[in-house]
Amino acid sequence: MRSPTPGPALFVKAWLRDGNGQPIAGAEVDVWHSSPEGYYENQDPKQAEMNLRGKFTTDADGSFGFRSVKPAGYPIPIDGPVGDLLRAQGRHNFRPAHLHFLFFKPGFKTLISQIYVNDDPRLDTDVQFGVTQALIGNYLRHDEPASAADVTTPWYSLEQTFVMEPGRSRLPKPPITDKVQAQKSPALTP
Ligand SMILES: [Fe+2]
Repeated sequence: MRSPTPGPALFVKAWLRDGNGQPIAGAEVDVWHSSPEGYYENQDPKQAEMNLRGKFTTDADGSFGFRSVKPAGYPIPIDGPVGDLLRAQGRHNFRPAHLHFLFFKPGFKTLISQIYVNDDPRLDTDVQFGVTQALIGNYLRHDEPASAADVTTPWYSLEQTFVMEPGRSRLPKPPITDKVQAQKSPALTP
């Protein structure tokens, strides 16, 4: 977090393994997600540049972890042909809440994935059809006090294992630009 971002605390602990269950150490991990209000920082003047985005390296046991805030789902733009298509189908334009992960390690196929929040009401109707059972994370709700004094209840934790396949590692070039002043898209309610 690079600027104050109110919302339920989320503690993530994850492991990266190969197909034999062996830890993959020294992998680069990119993580990014929307705020508890459903905005990525590049859509939100209130958030600092690169807020809710992080880069990690897996430890010798293949693990990495971080504290963040629980993301919210968000509407995708409907001001073009996608909006026409959704209106014709009578569908809403929301994505369920998720964390994005990108894993890079030479010798392995680059893994880009999303882990969806299991209490999101739109898991079954994701506008992008991105949700599968395996990608729904077990985000545990905690109503007991956390070890960190500044964490209020409820807070959440997620434990997740990722598996990489051997293969060619390639890294996409992200089109990173300065913050655009785009507003969050309006909701489409069929
Ligand atoms: Fe997303």
